[in-house]
Amino acid sequence: MTQLSAAQSTPQQSSDGSRALYGGKSTRRITVRDIGLAKERGEKWPMLTAYDAMTASVFDEAGIPVILVGDSAGNCHLGYETTVPVTLDQMTMLAAAVVRGTRRSLIVGDLPFGSYQEGPVQALRSATRLVKEAGVGAVKLEGGERSHEQIRLLVESGIPVMAHIGLTPQSVHAMGYRVQGRGEEAAQQLLRDAKAVQDAGAFAVVLELVPAELAAEVTRVLHIPTVGIGAGPETDAQVLVWTDMLGLTPGRVPKFVKQYADLREVMTGAVRAFADDVVGGTFPQDEHSVH
Ligand code: KIV
Repeated sequence: MTQLSAAQSTPQQSSDGSRALYGGKSTRRITVRDIGLAKERGEKWPMLTAYDAMTASVFDEAGIPVILVGDSAGNCHLGYETTVPVTLDQMTMLAAAVVRGTRRSLIVGDLPFGSYQEGPVQALRSATRLVKEAGVGAVKLEGGERSHEQIRLLVESGIPVMAHIGLTPQSVHAMGYRVQGRGEEAAQQLLRDAKAVQDAGAFAVVLELVPAELAAEVTRVLHIPTVGIGAGPETDAQVLVWTDMLGLTPGRVPKFVKQYADLREVMTGAVRAFADDVVGGTFPQDEHSVH
C-alpha cells in the first residue's frame, strides 16, 4: 500500500473549466442545488465522513465536495460498538467542529438514533439544532417509506435532507449487518423506499450494502443522486468512512472498502520512533530547545 503524494491528491480541473463538484473552480460553499445539477451533467462525485475539524480540513482542501458527519462517529470516533448510543448533543458538537474546519464542502449532519423516530415534529426539532447550532447545510436520516413524513416536514421547513436506505445501521438490532434488497420482494421494497424519499423531497439518497444491479436500477429511475456504499459502481456518488479508507480502523474492514493508505502503520511507526528517541535520549536536541 502506498501513501498518496501531494501532487496526486491535488484536485484536477475538469476540461470545461468549471462548475464540477470535484476539481471545479468555485471556492464558495457547495449547496444541494449544485448536487442536483451534477446529476443533470452526469458527473460522479466523492463523499467522505469526518468527525473533527482538522481531518475535515484535509478533505476540504483536497476538494471533497460533500462531507458527512456520520453517526459512524459512534464506532470510529467515540469508541462505541454501534451507532445506536450516539446522542444529538454529540452529533451537534462533532458537526460544529467539521463546519469550522471547512470552507467549500457541503456538510451533512447525521440525525442519530432516537432523534427523529418519534415523528416529524421531533425530527424538525433535532434537525433544527444541527442547522442552527452546528451550521450544517443538510441533514441525513435513515429509512425509506417509514421516514417519508419526517423528510417532507424538514424539506418544507427549509432543511435539505439526504435519505439513507438499504442497510440502515441504526436498525442493527432488527436487521443485522446484511446485504439488503436481495430477492424480488426485497428489491421491490427498496425501489419503493427510493421513490418515497424522492417524493418526500430528499435531495440525495444513500444506498448502503445493496446488490450492484439493483443500485444501478435505482440510480436510473431516480432524478435525485444516489450515493453508494457497498452498492457497486453505477451510483452517482460514492461514500466511504474515512477511517476505513485511510487504514486507521483496526481489524477487518468490509469487502466494499478500498484502503488508500495505512495510517495505522504510519502512526504506529512514528509514535514508536518518538518513544525510542525519548527513552534513548536523542529527543529533544539543541534545535528543539530554547536558550
Ligand atoms: O454514519 C455514516 O458514516 C453513514 C455512512 C456509512 C453513509 O451513514
